[in-house]
Amino acid sequence: MSNIKNIFIIGSGQMGSGIAQTALQSGYHVTLNDASDEAINRGIKNIEKNLTRLVEKGKLEQGKKDEFLSHLQKTIELREAADADLIIEAVYEDINVKKKIFAELDRIAKPGALFASNTSSISITEIASSTKRPEQVIGMHFFNPVPVMKLLEITRGLATSDKALEMAQEVGNKMGKVTIVSKDSPGFIVNRLLDPMLNEAVNMLDEGVGTVEDIDKGMVNGCNHPMGPLALTDLIGLDVILAVMEVLYREYGDPKYRPSPLLRKMVRAGYLGRKTGKGFYQY
Ligand code: CAA
Repeated sequence: MSNIKNIFIIGSGQMGSGIAQTALQSGYHVTLNDASDEAINRGIKNIEKNLTRLVEKGKLEQGKKDEFLSHLQKTIELREAADADLIIEAVYEDINVKKKIFAELDRIAKPGALFASNTSSISITEIASSTKRPEQVIGMHFFNPVPVMKLLEITRGLATSDKALEMAQEVGNKMGKVTIVSKDSPGFIVNRLLDPMLNEAVNMLDEGVGTVEDIDKGMVNGCNHPMGPLALTDLIGLDVILAVMEVLYREYGDPKYRPSPLLRKMVRAGYLGRKTGKGFYQY
């Protein structure tokens, strides 16, 4: 037993706030961190909204909701990670930003703390290299929407210890997630399969093979996917999918991973999907 009680989450966007909500509902104390109060408050509002919905549906008692929220703290100061047993970074996919955060955490965090990144494609080994404790750095990749999706994909960097893996698995189990373990390979397991499929859907749209609706209907009704690839790209964020494709393309050097030009253009236009109100659909 690792005795993890306090989780510090860096990044309060859809992934960070989703992880925070799930951690609270699993009995952890959570501190949510972001660069500004406004960003954190948006994340907290999201958590409150989701918990309220559960109360309204009769799936959660009001008293429990209040208890969970009483275990949630917020801070814009990274140094408050000093007491955390587990730190989960969920900021945007930029290796330099992540390395800077982990180097700073290395100076702040207590010995024995587990450092996790929710990255969907960036090398855990490289992130870990910015610390002097790479054996305590691991990938904990959650899926969107985090409270609903059952999977936690755990990635071992080259130096990640067995103890760190056990700790991450224990947290995943306590959160009620199914855990899988991936080698530190670009895209890990799920995004290596999922993102090229989403990227190909955008290529097909660009080529006029089908309309947005028909491409999505095809995969929903022909393959029983819960939502079509373009709707899913809107949910995840076009910028996130582009970032993963860039990593796959760069790391493997294989043209089959070339990011779709339309995907790139839409990201440049700020059409990032649900979070900006416009992607392949309007929200
Ligand atoms: N937060 C919390 N709960 C949510 C939610 C959210 N954002 N969105 C939906 N839910 C809950 C709903 O409240 C509902 O709960 P109940 O069953 O208790 O009523 C349940 O999920 C189902 O929601 P809906 O009835 O509204 O809609 P649905 O049945 O169509 O399900 C969905 C919505 C769960 C998103 C489903 O369409 C789905 O599973 N889609 C695929 C999602 C997916 O593939 N995610 C992985 C993305 S890849 C990724 O995240 C990794 C990466 O690195 C890119």
